[in-house]
Amino acid sequence: MLASLFAIGLAPLLATAQLSGSVGPTTSYASKADNKICSVLDYGGVADNSTDVGPAISSAWDECKDGGVVYIPPGDYALDSWVTLTGGSSCAINLDGIIYRTGTDGGNMIFIEHTTDFELLSSTSEGAVQGFGYVYHADGSISGPRILRLYEVVDFSVHDLALVDSPSFHFSMDTCENGEVYNMIIRGGNEGGLDGIDVWSTNIWIHDVEVTNKDECVTVKSPAQNILVESIYCNWSGGCAMGSLSTGVNISDITYRNIYTWSSNQMYMIKSNGGDGSVSNVLLENFIGHGNAYSLDVDQEWSSMSTVDGDGVQLNNITFSNWKGTEADGAQRGPIKVNCADAAPCTDITIEDFAMWTEEGDYQWYWCESAYGEGACLEDGDDYTSYTTTVTVTAAPTGYSAATMASDLTAAFGTGSPIPIPAIPTSFYPGLTPYSALASAAATSVYPVRA
Ligand SMILES: *[C@@H]1O[C@H](CO)[C@@H](O)[C@H](O)[C@H]1NC(C)=O
Ligand SMILES: *[C@@H]1O[C@H](CO)[C@@H](O)[C@H](O)[C@H]1NC(C)=O
Ligand SMILES: *[C@@H]1O[C@H](CO)[C@@H](O)[C@H](O)[C@H]1NC(C)=O
Ligand SMILES: *[C@@H]1O[C@H](CO)[C@@H](O)[C@H](O)[C@H]1NC(C)=O
Repeated sequence: MLASLFAIGLAPLLATAQLSGSVGPTTSYASKADNKICSVLDYGGVADNSTDVGPAISSAWDECKDGGVVYIPPGDYALDSWVTLTGGSSCAINLDGIIYRTGTDGGNMIFIEHTTDFELLSSTSEGAVQGFGYVYHADGSISGPRILRLYEVVDFSVHDLALVDSPSFHFSMDTCENGEVYNMIIRGGNEGGLDGIDVWSTNIWIHDVEVTNKDECVTVKSPAQNILVESIYCNWSGGCAMGSLSTGVNISDITYRNIYTWSSNQMYMIKSNGGDGSVSNVLLENFIGHGNAYSLDVDQEWSSMSTVDGDGVQLNNITFSNWKGTEADGAQRGPIKVNCADAAPCTDITIEDFAMWTEEGDYQWYWCESAYGEGACLEDGDDYTSYTTTVTVTAAPTGYSAATMASDLTAAFGTGSPIPIPAIPTSFYPGLTPYSALASAAATSVYPVRA
């Protein structure tokens, strides 16, 4: 019991009032391991990189899902048949090996559902899933499987894993609660449709994650409440976002902070086209960007999605604070674009401590449309009618310069050849160290594994 109190740690309590309660598993890994360990090697798994490990994972899960640890020891495993792991309670999966996709079904390679008090991790911080998405992408297809999906999982954590080159999305959290995701690296191909992390859930803390791809970095979808996203490194990505939002949208109490975005489509985008429902109480603070196309980008006439019924999603009480850095070409795509629905103007928008400047040319624009609040080109007042204002900025704002990360990618991973499995970084935002040390640095009493 002492071990369990110890292992869970106090960090979540310190995180912020943004969350609605504690996150993460409610009993420690050590206590689960103490109870029972089910190694896949005892259920037909072979670390020969060719025997399908899917059935062994499923059997080990069945034996250990009620209070134990499914253990995938270091080694190389082929995953030919996908696993759906259901109904766990007080259990963990320790992936210290590397799983290579060999199967070709659609769906989700690893799908975990209806599970409580759950931890998915690599205790060596070297576990990974290699999706070999390039095999699909080289042929122009993004319709292969996703790597990881959690559905109705409560009181959980996912950490210290690398998810690499998914044929489709990398990691989705659908209708989960009280989760913590941290110390992860996701590295996908350089094209759309290969999302990093997508979350539509309640009370989730995502921190210290690096994503490389060309679509969603860490993105909130509807419905979502009490999501805190911090220390995220979008190292050549699509960028973080909210959406795309459609009808019946219900999103509130979302904070992103300490977000570093390099060579992405945007630093943050809220995207919709028509629709209804609302997004409220959002704080987007401490953003650094370099080399991105868009920066602050609210687009409620987003042309990449077809118009859905409704006057527009109501955006209310959204604050952008302390954004610094440079955008690729501010004359082409200015660093502030707040394009709200004319039939449902945005209210209580704040843009403060915002200083960005263009890398190309000598001017940039700010664009505000049907958006009310304070800062940049926003209109104040409360008549909430539609308008459009574009402001041309011809001098660099004071204090725009911002730190870069030591090793920003200088070229994308393409889509035609394998993507190497990276190590998990130890910094995700300039000058910040992660909330938690890597699992590999923890005492063996925290993550005891079978010798
Ligand atoms: C495992 O098999 C995959 C092909 O499925 C291959 O690309 C990879 O290099 C192999 N891993 C090792 C360590 O040999
Ligand atoms: C939004 O979701 C919350 C949490 O599930 C719920 O309490 C609330 O009633 C929903 N609001 C609307 C308008 O559906
Ligand atoms: C606006 O949102 C912030 C969170 O970003 C919250 O702290 C504040 O209470 C909200 N204001 C109102 C009036 O709801
Ligand atoms: C960004 O990605 C590139 C390519 O994977 C890598 O070499 C670099 O180390 C990454 N940057 C950091 C700080 O992890």
